[in-house]
Amino acid sequence: MSPSLLITLDDESDRDPTLDLAALFGNDHPIEIELGFGKGRYLLDAAQRRSDHNFVGVEVAGKYLRLTLDRARRRGVSNIRFVHGDAREFVEFFVPGESIRALHVYFADPWPKTKHHKRRLLEAEFFEEALRILEPAGRMWIATDHDEYYEAILEALKPSADGFNLVEAIWDGVTTNYEDKFVRRGSAIHRRVLQKR
Ligand SMILES: C[S@@+](CC[C@H](N)C(=O)[O-])C[C@H]1O[C@@H](n2cnc3c(N)ncnc32)[C@H](O)[C@@H]1O
Repeated sequence: MSPSLLITLDDESDRDPTLDLAALFGNDHPIEIELGFGKGRYLLDAAQRRSDHNFVGVEVAGKYLRLTLDRARRRGVSNIRFVHGDAREFVEFFVPGESIRALHVYFADPWPKTKHHKRRLLEAEFFEEALRILEPAGRMWIATDHDEYYEAILEALKPSADGFNLVEAIWDGVTTNYEDKFVRRGSAIHRRVLQKR
């Protein structure tokens, strides 16, 4: 029987919630995570092209999760596991230290109103968490179309500046749904690739 692609997180019991990622996939291939994958275009394409890597996709919106999970099943993709939940909580409580080869966050909600900025994912504490879960030399890939959020991201990166090198990496993924939408509107896309020292 094929394994379930949907991970059910144990956040109720007193046991250590940290996931055993190798057991989850049945192998110890490098792990990549995408947070807020939306309609899953990047995630599905990356998992199919890098079949020797394992992928975990985290999405809070049930309709996007179901859509992408269904596409993965129909395409027979077996190297993705899906989490229906909050990205920040997943990273903080369930991901072991130094276990992730690549962390992808594309077009995270910018929450433009000042009173909502605290909901933004890419803030200083999250970058500290990213440093915790990345393997040495692991990479974090970020894109946003939102100029003000991009400036705030650069500011939020300052406290963890010693932990990351900025790298020039060639983008070899497909565009995401939101990226296409923003490019059609004429927005400039900001990208950052950070490599853990
Ligand atoms: C602007 S969309 C971008 C989707 C996709 N990355 C793309 O580029 O097409 C932001 C996505 O993040 C998801 N999201 C927002 N907050 C989240 C959270 N706290 N945890 C997980 N996913 C979240 C939304 O449901 C949505 O699918």
